[in-house]
Amino acid sequence: MKKLYITAACLMALSASAQAQDAAIQKKVNALLAKMTIEEKVGQLHQIAGADLTGPASAEAKNRDRLTDIRNGRIGSLLTVTGAAQTRSFQEMAMQSRLKIPLLFALDVIHGQHVVFPMPLAEAASWDLGAMELSARISATEAAASGVHWTFAPMVDVARDPRWGRVMEGAGEDTFLGSKIATARVRGFQGKRLGDLDAVMATAKHFAAYGAAQAGRDYNTVDMSYQQLHEVYLPPFKAAVDAGVATFMNSFNSLNGIPATGSSMLQRDILRNQWKFKGIVISDWKSVEEMVPHGFASDLNDAAVKAIRAGNDIDMEGYAYTTHLAAAVKAGKVPIARVDNAVGNVLYRKFELGLFDDPFRFSDPERERRVLADPAHRAATREVARKTMVLLKNDKKVLPLAAGATRIALIGPLAESRRDLEGAWIVNTKRAPVVNLAEGIRNAVPGAALTVVAGCDVACTSNSGFDAAVAAARDADVVVMALGESYDQSGEARSRSEIGLPGLQSELFAAVRKATGKPVVVVMLAGRPMVFNSVADQADAILYAWFPGTEGGNAVADVLFGRYNPSGKLPITFPRNVGQIPLSYASYSTGRPQSDPPNPYSSYYIDVANTPRYAFGHGLSYTEFGYGALKLDRATMRAADTLTVSFDLTNKGKVAGEEVVQLYLRDLVSSVVRPVKELKGFQKIMLQPGETRRVSFAIDRSLLTFFDHSLKQVAEPGKFSVMIGSASDDIRAQGGFELLAN
Ligand code: NOJ
Repeated sequence: MKKLYITAACLMALSASAQAQDAAIQKKVNALLAKMTIEEKVGQLHQIAGADLTGPASAEAKNRDRLTDIRNGRIGSLLTVTGAAQTRSFQEMAMQSRLKIPLLFALDVIHGQHVVFPMPLAEAASWDLGAMELSARISATEAAASGVHWTFAPMVDVARDPRWGRVMEGAGEDTFLGSKIATARVRGFQGKRLGDLDAVMATAKHFAAYGAAQAGRDYNTVDMSYQQLHEVYLPPFKAAVDAGVATFMNSFNSLNGIPATGSSMLQRDILRNQWKFKGIVISDWKSVEEMVPHGFASDLNDAAVKAIRAGNDIDMEGYAYTTHLAAAVKAGKVPIARVDNAVGNVLYRKFELGLFDDPFRFSDPERERRVLADPAHRAATREVARKTMVLLKNDKKVLPLAAGATRIALIGPLAESRRDLEGAWIVNTKRAPVVNLAEGIRNAVPGAALTVVAGCDVACTSNSGFDAAVAAARDADVVVMALGESYDQSGEARSRSEIGLPGLQSELFAAVRKATGKPVVVVMLAGRPMVFNSVADQADAILYAWFPGTEGGNAVADVLFGRYNPSGKLPITFPRNVGQIPLSYASYSTGRPQSDPPNPYSSYYIDVANTPRYAFGHGLSYTEFGYGALKLDRATMRAADTLTVSFDLTNKGKVAGEEVVQLYLRDLVSSVVRPVKELKGFQKIMLQPGETRRVSFAIDRSLLTFFDHSLKQVAEPGKFSVMIGSASDDIRAQGGFELLAN
């Protein structure tokens, strides 16, 4: 009890000092605002690319002298600039402006700056929140040491369509898992407090529902029920707000007819008014201007007016604000109070980061050198990478390979690739060298005879190299095939209508498989779930390694040779074919569910099963886990109660391993149709061989709520079923309880 009082007292003292700091910054913001001309204010809302373009070039950009604009205080922030020296030289230009307002430097530090961590979807497959926080922490430390103040991450868009290339950048299909990951990543990027020299501002993007682009085509329309928006797509954004995220980015898509950049429902009603978000809202790359081709704004001027009125603060790489906003204010089309509010949001963060005290504090080349040379960063990428790999299949326990395996053939276009292992979203060009698969295997088994044959390049348009591959396979004891996508087949603007292996890669696999009775292990590298049925049927083992980053080769070898027991689980469903998409484990029940024996008029396809190839939550281990019966400490609960479910988890195998136990709930009868299963808890548990641990989950009202037809968040009395699984399609223990009316 005493402890509780002390904690409460500390918290009160903390929030009092935070409030005092907030008031002090606000005072400085107001004083500065009072000195600014409208043109200088608009400058703070204008962000341009300082170096490489990460989107299409603006026609207007060609006619502007950006450096003069910086010197005149007409630009408030730059994106794509990095490096202590480069940021310093831009900041020196800003210091020549009348009010000497420092620039903010923003960069897409998505999963690494100098060392590259596995792509975000891969990290989500670790279900290890600590690992994800660490990855973001190290990325932030390196970015901040390189002069960067602000990362455009994490992307917290729920994504259920693997045709969409940007599935690689998010946390997958699930709202609950995605919300936890959003929190971990925001914490990792922002560290203990903004203003520290190892912290960067995080960005929750893309607000909102960008991940639901129709037909998986990037930048496409989104049209969905508001219930679905609130239930599935918004919670990870809310989690980011609750974690203190400093900035939000809106999105390219229209949502139910309104471009997100012009949506006051999203940016004002929900984000500011309901969620009380106090940070910066930035547009996506030219998304203000894109309201014109959307057919929502008549011209650039109209777009500027609509965006700022709807709550968009900064115009990224756009010329709508800088060209038209000042005149729009003078003409009375935009209240100056709204501009002041947007500018205040930007200035606040500049004060918070300490840039008015020392505009160069993040741009110290000596510190940059020291931080980027830290060997712990590279070591961490290996640690994290091996946690992300998902063992999809392991027939006859082919894996792990014996460390004494003497003759290994490593075949496939990705065997020696380095760039592909890093994935798409790497903006910084000075990166740590990558360990490829061949090197990883050589490092793991230096005594083995390793033959490496590509067979073809990633596009695999010719079979001319297949004979050499088959010959290498014949001479080996075991074959490891490195197949998959190239780094630039997923990511932004990389939607695919077919998500199979590129070109003739499946034929390469078939040729090798047919010519040898040796075990064939496939290491799949990809930025998304792929469809690879013939390989999946015939390979002895499949390790889904995604794009694993700087230490990818070593991390893969750690798993192949059993130095690390795989523990990853899929954060997104793998369909059997493209026609099943979108496919999620959390589907809604229909009035005609499939039954056994089958009813021909149930909801199904005549040419493919309803089930996925690999389900959400699936992932094997080198050991087996046993689940005991489920115990509930009560059969009924009221809204204020907490119910505990528990069971025994046993490692029944011979090696230590980690299991991700998953809690799913189903609301059996409610005023709106609910999903057949929803993830509501998970724990990653390490057990030694033979060890048993009691695992429990607490269920309270917050896990039982949903948005009803009038968008009220309710928990309705009635029966719920509880499922504990090793995967969403592998439920090991079940029970039920009733929520009583109060
Ligand atoms: C467009 C992307 O959608 C966004 O995520 C990114 O941060 C910006 N470009 C800046 O590169």
